[in-house]
Amino acid sequence: MFSAQVAGPPAHIATKDASEYADLLRRAFDVEFSVVDGLTGDLLYAPEGQPQQDWSVRAELCREVARRGRAEFIDEEEPLVVLALPLGESDGVAPVAVGTFVSREVLPDEDLGAAARLLELPPEEVAAWASRQKPWAPEMLRRVADMVLARLDDDRRIDELVHEARSLSEHLSSTYEEISLLYRLTQNLKLSQSDEQLGQAALEWLDEVVAAEGFALFLASDPRQEEAHTHRARPEDVLLTFGRCPVGRDEFKQMVDRLGLKPTDRPFVANRQVTRTDTWPCPEIRQLAIVPLAEGENLFGWLAAVNHSDGGEFGTVEASLLGSIGTILGIHSGNIDLYQQQTEMFAGIVRALTSAIDAKDEYTRGHSDRVAQVSVRLASELGCDERTMNRIYLAGLLHDIGKIGIDDSVLRKPGGLTDEEYEHIKGHVSIGHRILIDLKKMDDVLPVVLHHHESWDGSGYPGHLPSEAIPRSARIVAVADAFDAMSSDRPYRKGMADEKIDAIFRDGAGKQWDPEVVAALFRARDDLRKIIRRERIDLDADLKKFTG
Ligand SMILES: [Fe+2]
Ligand SMILES: [Fe+2]
Repeated sequence: MFSAQVAGPPAHIATKDASEYADLLRRAFDVEFSVVDGLTGDLLYAPEGQPQQDWSVRAELCREVARRGRAEFIDEEEPLVVLALPLGESDGVAPVAVGTFVSREVLPDEDLGAAARLLELPPEEVAAWASRQKPWAPEMLRRVADMVLARLDDDRRIDELVHEARSLSEHLSSTYEEISLLYRLTQNLKLSQSDEQLGQAALEWLDEVVAAEGFALFLASDPRQEEAHTHRARPEDVLLTFGRCPVGRDEFKQMVDRLGLKPTDRPFVANRQVTRTDTWPCPEIRQLAIVPLAEGENLFGWLAAVNHSDGGEFGTVEASLLGSIGTILGIHSGNIDLYQQQTEMFAGIVRALTSAIDAKDEYTRGHSDRVAQVSVRLASELGCDERTMNRIYLAGLLHDIGKIGIDDSVLRKPGGLTDEEYEHIKGHVSIGHRILIDLKKMDDVLPVVLHHHESWDGSGYPGHLPSEAIPRSARIVAVADAFDAMSSDRPYRKGMADEKIDAIFRDGAGKQWDPEVVAALFRARDDLRKIIRRERIDLDADLKKFTG
């Protein structure tokens, strides 16, 4: 989980409490220390079995030591010295350790009257205590004191470093989660994945890394919806949510409007300071982090985290994570949009081309539509996958596109053709190939346009390709082409009877046509006859179905 932003370590850290300091100093000096707060003069720690003193007298001196930050002797009365060590400051406490030392050997019965007055204790008690102490030369004492303080300083620095390392590792782990989330998202940026599918997945993944009660993805309806031939799937706004989102679609949109958010804005974050004011539009939302889904100037919607779940506030970590995801979702929506525009443009080109063939020869009007339909039915009978069937549909529509370049007089001639005229008509396959060769997405259509007049026995044109050397889709379209030509009325004859058509195909299987495709034709014959008998097929609907 992301925690709130990690604060830097304080300048000084209370790494130990007063008794721990006293312990440490006892080990260093073999003397008991008391600990006084150098700010207030309060006694923080007094060792057991030690003479109790009135610390108020020394409080002022301890304050001074704390202020200067150096070890100092704050009292001296031969043979006693009182050493004070400042232990730093944190959380409003500045502990100062105070220890009493003897500077020479003391005999148990020695008279330490003046020194006893210093400690405000009975002289015999002081003498007995002093005789048990290890004597310290004051110079040595000061040197050891400096060493101990340096050591404490090192400890403190180490603690700070440990703290920093911990913060860094927390930060790294949140960065790792962020990267892994973004990675997962980019792995799903397929055009086949709709923006709603990807968006819903993103909301669920966000829940794993952002401490929010709920997430919302607002996807705006397409403003171009009303324009002709646009078939983007979203006629109205959509609000996807995960977790607890206290507002609905319309309230969400109103909130964005009232906040005056713009697609170019950086992430917008509102915490309690803002949301508890009267002007805040959604009282149910205590914390909000929101980013646009945009690509260039196109705004596709908004992504938001709603209400912090740990009682915290949203910060830059949440905002930047949402921002990254919003950018990726925006790019994905932009790509889908572009793809749809391309698809629509492509369908428009195909529509224009088929209209051109129809305009050229009104007697064969509808031939391309029917060949496309029959080809798809044959392809499905042969077990082709959806992608292949989509290509075959297009190929069927455009197989005779080259007839645009054939003389009208030859194309519409009612009777038989001369050899020369027949050769001229045969040219429609290569003309069609030339027309389409520069159009992207036509790669799969080209072999059909070029080879739909090849014959299984190798006697066809233009390549005289035999059997399986002919592209399979061209073999399928060849059968559909012949089936429609035989079935439809022509200016010079009526459509043939079903029995006659059957006989021709039975005879031509394995000679003119691929026997497998002819077998499929017989199996699907009832469906195919229905297709041929249909009035003008709704080309627009089919184009959407097969190119969308
Ligand atoms: Fe043809
Ligand atoms: Fe044809």
